[in-house]
Amino acid sequence: MDIRLGKAGRGLNGEACVPPDKSISHRSAILGAMAKGRTAAAPFLLSDDCLSTLSCLRSLGVEVELDGCELAIEGRGPDGWSEPAGILDAGNSATTMRLLCGALAGRPLACVIDGDASLRRRPMGRIVSPLRAMGADISGMDDDTRPPLTVRGGRLEGIEHRMEVDSAQVKSALLLAGLQARGETRIVGGRSSRDHTERMLLLMGADLEFEGEDTMSIRPSALAGCKIDIPGDISSAAFLMAAAALVPGSHLRLKGVGLNPTRAGFLSALNTMGALVMESDYRETCNEPRGDLEVRSASLVGVEVESDRVPAMIDEVPLLAVLGCAARGVTVVRGAGELRVKESDRIAAICGELRKMGAEIKELPDGFAVSGPAELRGAVVDSHGDHRIAMALAVAALCAEGDTVISGWECVNISFPGFGQTLRHLVSGS
Ligand code: S3P
Repeated sequence: MDIRLGKAGRGLNGEACVPPDKSISHRSAILGAMAKGRTAAAPFLLSDDCLSTLSCLRSLGVEVELDGCELAIEGRGPDGWSEPAGILDAGNSATTMRLLCGALAGRPLACVIDGDASLRRRPMGRIVSPLRAMGADISGMDDDTRPPLTVRGGRLEGIEHRMEVDSAQVKSALLLAGLQARGETRIVGGRSSRDHTERMLLLMGADLEFEGEDTMSIRPSALAGCKIDIPGDISSAAFLMAAAALVPGSHLRLKGVGLNPTRAGFLSALNTMGALVMESDYRETCNEPRGDLEVRSASLVGVEVESDRVPAMIDEVPLLAVLGCAARGVTVVRGAGELRVKESDRIAAICGELRKMGAEIKELPDGFAVSGPAELRGAVVDSHGDHRIAMALAVAALCAEGDTVISGWECVNISFPGFGQTLRHLVSGS
């Protein structure tokens, strides 16, 4: 499906609803299914990725009820999971696949978990090796590095694992396996990636401890179901904020957005670039900080982002390339090589597509350098089947002369169903 978008004739004004956080929605379902008792999570994100998690859990015999966006899980503990009759389908979602593999590593069940063509290209060796070291029988394609994965879980032993990539999904898979292992599982590194799993595990009563800046350890423990209020997704909010920062005359308000510091790196980049961002009503609910955000348009300057700042804005990096096109000077991102193994090769995709619109952008092995301000012009561009690329291009389209057609638009349903309507509504002011 294509979408055609023209240059925004006026600013984005008013208040917008941000969809519930995707990472927290996945975790509320998976941890709720591992807990004993009822977990009620709302508002749950009704996007393709999170629905893939629910359908896998249902196939594992978990009682899942969805009433609008209110999710209820009657958890019977991990012992309550049963062997699925067919293949578990994680769709496009690496979070579903990697976290479920961690949980399944401790279950005496035989499961095959697969996904779509994009997920089949994603690296899985990073979870297969440590889960094997803990005692799980797990294998996959291409020397056990790609899906589909076969997991035959069972008795696990705690290990010490040094994180090679700063990935929240790997860390979470090990924590969910560690919860079921004998002895202690220590994870060294990985503390700058998103910490929603750690926060929710503590909320549900897990025996999880942090040592210094760098290490955490988990011991076998039972989780108790609980109530979870899910904040708005800062990664989805980022697209609306970038549009408001770029389109002159904008003043946008977003309520109840998750402000977890391991996710909020984009806000500080936006501030450094000169956008007028204000936070208010900061509060903490269910171990997760949230607050309201206000953004006004401004003239932007280029920013340099080094690798230590990348994990806290990993999903927003393609959007920085779009902001960089409008900013005076050079915007450089380095140390973001992980983007090459996301839903698409996000470095190649955003550089190639923005170039079609007239951007002066150079691809680096682990990032990009973009010079601005550039006069963008409408073009026919492609989402590469990647929701974050599709939405970043839509923001670029609002600043380009003439119409832009984005093909493969349907992928926005992975994280932000209704993004096109929200954008049009904010631009038209109706
Ligand atoms: C996610 C972690 C990140 C992120 C992804 C969601 C999560 O991936 O890019 O969109 O929910 O844990 P990595 O853990 O591979 O960095």
